[in-house]
Amino acid sequence: MNPRLSLIARPAPEENPTSEFATAFQLALTSEPRRISPKFFYDAAGCELFDQICALPEYYPTRTELGILQRHAHEMAARIGPGADVIEFGAGVMTKIRLLLHALAEPVRYVPVDIAAEHLQAQANLLAADFPGLEVQPLAADFTQGFALPEATMKPRARIGFFPGSSIGNFAPDDARRFLRAAARTLRGGGMLIGVDLVKEPAVLHAAYNDRQGVTAAFNKNLLVRANRELAADFDLEGFDHYAFYNPVASRIEMHLVSNRPQQVTIETEIFEFAPGQTLHTENSYKYSLSGFEKLARQAGFEPKQVWCDEQEWFSVHWLAAPKDAD
Ligand code: AVI
Repeated sequence: MNPRLSLIARPAPEENPTSEFATAFQLALTSEPRRISPKFFYDAAGCELFDQICALPEYYPTRTELGILQRHAHEMAARIGPGADVIEFGAGVMTKIRLLLHALAEPVRYVPVDIAAEHLQAQANLLAADFPGLEVQPLAADFTQGFALPEATMKPRARIGFFPGSSIGNFAPDDARRFLRAAARTLRGGGMLIGVDLVKEPAVLHAAYNDRQGVTAAFNKNLLVRANRELAADFDLEGFDHYAFYNPVASRIEMHLVSNRPQQVTIETEIFEFAPGQTLHTENSYKYSLSGFEKLARQAGFEPKQVWCDEQEWFSVHWLAAPKDAD
């Protein structure tokens, strides 16, 4: 085994993703309006469907951000400097980080943090094989809940956060501010490279979340498949429709599962009624203006230093410095 690759560091043993899902799902169905955090999309099938979404012609964020990273990775690396300790929030397939790691001067450590433990370990193994000098310490944790960083073997020069994919858009603005404030504290003296999707023509946004092949619909409905499997629920998948639209007032895509008829769903012994048109709100994906996101970052204690965009200004990657005294 590569001596510089750690086996996965897991969160506290009492954290059980299934029971967390059970509690959240129960709460979602008893609240008004019904809504649940999008983090529950990401079981094994959900991760697989999300990877498929990223390759869809309509889903521009992944390829656009990749293009920005390909074009500007060396400028980003110059901002970051040598000897970096890189923490990736929600590491997924680790494609984008490779572009950055290739450009960085002597990065010391890479800590991919992700909720999907098996997927994380497999991807970390592949990455460690390609970067033999790098210490790779995968951490299976829910990065939205805060986590303790493992000790690095060698002392890095600066701690860097990497948060691509506009996953920040899946937080409500207050939660985004809270998350960024905690990140600024963790990254004191270093900074954060963060991908942010931008406000654009609603038709482009609509197409990205209503792809022709129905992959996004399957991703959304997979939440019900997961509830049937893990919570002994009896959702009829035909009874719910994928519904995604741009809400210009809130500047976000909203994703819902809409009941297309009156129906009852049993979860263990409890029965829940769905009226026709009643929805379970499954995701928000906020879209920012450049200045709107910089304002949010400043409010969280970061100093926005540079931003890179594609030619159409559909997507942005921001370099945010975390001052030494960030609190
Ligand atoms: C992970 N996140 C940034 C994606 C997004 O665009 O909000 C999740 C997604 N939902 C539907 N398609 C992709």
